[in-house]
Amino acid sequence: DGFSAPKLFSQGYSYTYDDVIFLPHYIDFPTDAVSLSSKLSTNLTLSVPCVSSPMDTVTESSMATSMAALGAIGFIHSNNSPSHQASLVRSAKSHRLPFTSDLVFLSPSDSILSADDFASSPCIFVTQSGTRHSKLLGIVSLSDWQALPDKSEARRVSDYMKKSPIHSLPNGSQLEDVSAYLAAENLDFVPLVRRHQDDEEEIVNVVTSAELERIKGFPKLGLPTVGPDGNFMVGASIGTRESDKERLEHLVKAGVNAVILDSSQGNSIYQLEMIKYVKRAYPELDLIGGNVVTMYQAQNLIQAGVDGLRVGMGSGSICTTQEVCAVGRGQATAVYKVSSIAEQSGVPVIADGGISNSGHIVKALVLGASTVMMGSFLAGSTEAPGTYQYQGSIRVKKYRGMGSLEAMTKGSDARYLGDTSKLKIAQGVVGAVADKGSILKFVPYTMQAVKQGFQDLGASSLQSAHELLRSGVLRLEVRTGAAQVEGGIHGLVYYAKKSF
Ligand code: XMP
Repeated sequence: DGFSAPKLFSQGYSYTYDDVIFLPHYIDFPTDAVSLSSKLSTNLTLSVPCVSSPMDTVTESSMATSMAALGAIGFIHSNNSPSHQASLVRSAKSHRLPFTSDLVFLSPSDSILSADDFASSPCIFVTQSGTRHSKLLGIVSLSDWQALPDKSEARRVSDYMKKSPIHSLPNGSQLEDVSAYLAAENLDFVPLVRRHQDDEEEIVNVVTSAELERIKGFPKLGLPTVGPDGNFMVGASIGTRESDKERLEHLVKAGVNAVILDSSQGNSIYQLEMIKYVKRAYPELDLIGGNVVTMYQAQNLIQAGVDGLRVGMGSGSICTTQEVCAVGRGQATAVYKVSSIAEQSGVPVIADGGISNSGHIVKALVLGASTVMMGSFLAGSTEAPGTYQYQGSIRVKKYRGMGSLEAMTKGSDARYLGDTSKLKIAQGVVGAVADKGSILKFVPYTMQAVKQGFQDLGASSLQSAHELLRSGVLRLEVRTGAAQVEGGIHGLVYYAKKSF
């Protein structure tokens, strides 16, 4: 019944996730017996096989912190200066709790004009120079400011701020300890501070009791992704230019745990030379190469020494590579083909792009990938960079391709081998995605759905799924256009959209 994977994928067609469907197998274990623990790269393991894409509208420190808190990992983008990227890595690694507020700093002579000045923070910090790296003098909470009878512009914050010493906790405190402290001191929020060697304190985060309550209700996943240094594991991307060697040095100093060579066509002399350089200069660092979609491309990068392969070309939701350059591959075929060769060398595969539901994740993982990388699926979340805006009545956040003209103007053209050419050709678009809330909430639900998919297939782990697929026990078929329509919601005039 059905086809084996080797047969299905050798017929000359390029299949996307939606083109193929697995036939159910036999269930002899409960959903919770499914383990999704998996390898990101040769030396690194994740309890949740998800990776956030190194895109400037997806992964900065807040996303990386929350991904690690979930047991997944985030890769900080490189569309910024090397020192800024390194500071984002440092900040993500240093957090213990999975949230970062936009901190607001003012100097004593500044005034607060409206509640908007607080951004999303419950308070404003008053420091000597009005910047983060300056002595803390006091604090103004939003509720105290709102209660002020006179809020005129002439009033300086020093007139009404609560003066230091301020209640605080060390950055790195555990969720339970912060919760107990807030209750014991009857506080609505508490700043988390990092103490430097010269005894100066830096405020790095603010935790509110409301946020803590919200997070306590979220479903739990696996163990957080913590590195040998005891901090969250964080990845970052670099390019393949000479200047990226200096960027990498900054990242290594910041304690980066894995690095992706970010290129849309990874099988190039530039990438092969960069792989050799990185493996020589930093033998301990896990290096992920890509992107590739063929066995030939994969073989070259594996031989050069990569610890992981990123697979996908033109399958991303904002990608136009296949239309602009006529090159790429359907993502289901690409993942299957590359995984079948990478498996022989023990190199884990990241299925990158084209994930828009939990079924796509099941397909990617069963077809041979060890993890999935997502852009649009995670964009629009609380943790994604940028602020929410309204499009009509819908709250959205910007999501853009790194090959869009807008992103390339900021420097990401290296990914598309723009070299020094002044003529930039866009291979991506700029868009927006709807507010999805926190990834701490919707990723656990998604992964529970993935576990159910594995259960239907009789696979209790990724390894067992890969074995069942390879041995031909798992069977697949291609869905006709009508079968795809039937497999989706159809025939209703109205349906209540599932919400988490
Ligand atoms: P999803 O589908 O998760 O895809 O939104 C994210 C992946 O898409 C790739 N990417 C691009 N590909 N032009 C492209 O052809 C672009 O502008 C672009 N930006 C990102 C990238 O691999 C990412 O992880």
